[in-house]
Amino acid sequence: MTAIAESNMFKPIKVGPVELSNRIVMLPTTRFRNSPEHVATDAMQKLYSDRTRDAGSLVITEGTLISPKYGMYPQAPGLWSEVQAAAWKKVVDAVHQNGSFICSQLWALGRIAEPEIAKADNLPLYGPSAIHYSEEAKEAAEKSGVELVALSTEEVEQMIQEYVVAAGHALEIAGADMVEVHSANGYLLNQFVDEVSNQRTDKYGGSIENRARVVLEIIDAIGTKFGYERVGVRFTPWSTFQGMPAGDEAKISPIVTYGYLLSELERRAASGKRLAYVSTTEPRTEWWLETKGTSSFHNDWMYDIWKGVVIRSGAYFIEPSYSTALKHVNANDRTIIGSCRSFTSNPDLRTRLRKGLELTPYERKYFYAYTNYGYNTYGDYGTEKLGPDSEQATKPLTPLA
Ligand code: PHB
Repeated sequence: MTAIAESNMFKPIKVGPVELSNRIVMLPTTRFRNSPEHVATDAMQKLYSDRTRDAGSLVITEGTLISPKYGMYPQAPGLWSEVQAAAWKKVVDAVHQNGSFICSQLWALGRIAEPEIAKADNLPLYGPSAIHYSEEAKEAAEKSGVELVALSTEEVEQMIQEYVVAAGHALEIAGADMVEVHSANGYLLNQFVDEVSNQRTDKYGGSIENRARVVLEIIDAIGTKFGYERVGVRFTPWSTFQGMPAGDEAKISPIVTYGYLLSELERRAASGKRLAYVSTTEPRTEWWLETKGTSSFHNDWMYDIWKGVVIRSGAYFIEPSYSTALKHVNANDRTIIGSCRSFTSNPDLRTRLRKGLELTPYERKYFYAYTNYGYNTYGDYGTEKLGPDSEQATKPLTPLA
């Protein structure tokens, strides 16, 4: 038996309403294989189904936009319409047929959205405050003639309701097991939490409590309506992606800010309202740059505040011998290891890890392409990758609704 096969990675664990057979989860992996109308396609159904073939596995979907208002990427998925939800249902059904589980990540971009797309949609860019994340982003917005506008208090309250609608579409129409509130990696909710992007003077800005308020209100609104155990949340306290400050540059340590958020979640848990999980990424990787992070910070402290399940990620299966993954999964019985990049080119990742089989290297150049090629053309261990002219590679993406 390999060390991984014997580790906690292949022990069952309860997450929200479901019991997993293993602790290796596919995490949100942004891809552009939806229809131009942001409707999930047959290619996605195959991708998610292929990565949950071991019964009892969990996948968390790619970021799925709750509304067109907060910025779009071409062919990224949405959950604001019933048609989109009906298409997701076919993805969910395929995962359920495997005896596995699926969680929808609810996503809003905010100030980092593409100005040219906003312009085409006749929308401004929206953020907690009118603060661009870089000089280049400011220039790009100006060049497109698109303004970055602070959401009004009423608009923030409306946005909370949009999260509830999208969650309802995911849970009640698509039949997803859980939803994840994405408050990480420089996207809109992270922009509210961090003071570099939030200089508001209303109840959603200023103190830590106020900056954290919108995330907690979204969690409470979804949790009250659909059950707290069906909600997960994603925080990346140390991520410097998309204009977020490095931990040692933040005016208030992320441990303080996110410690507050986690203690609020734990307080809810104490009254029977425990979220399914908290998902995070270690600062030891800068996955968006393909560099090993230089930060010496980590997320071990989270366990002292939050007593529920923690999903940890950060190049765990890119490191030779997976020693940190093993250390972390075995150090605490509430740990799940998440992976994005390794899952792209290894549909049978769990089997390969368990048996100690070599992994197929991922290919970033296909990550954000619009084709089946480089998406559904990786096979199980021992099979050849399908070529660009293969039937699978040239299959058009067909919307599922
Ligand atoms: C994340 O879950 O942190 C995440 C999701 C979508 C992205 C990037 C990061 O495009």
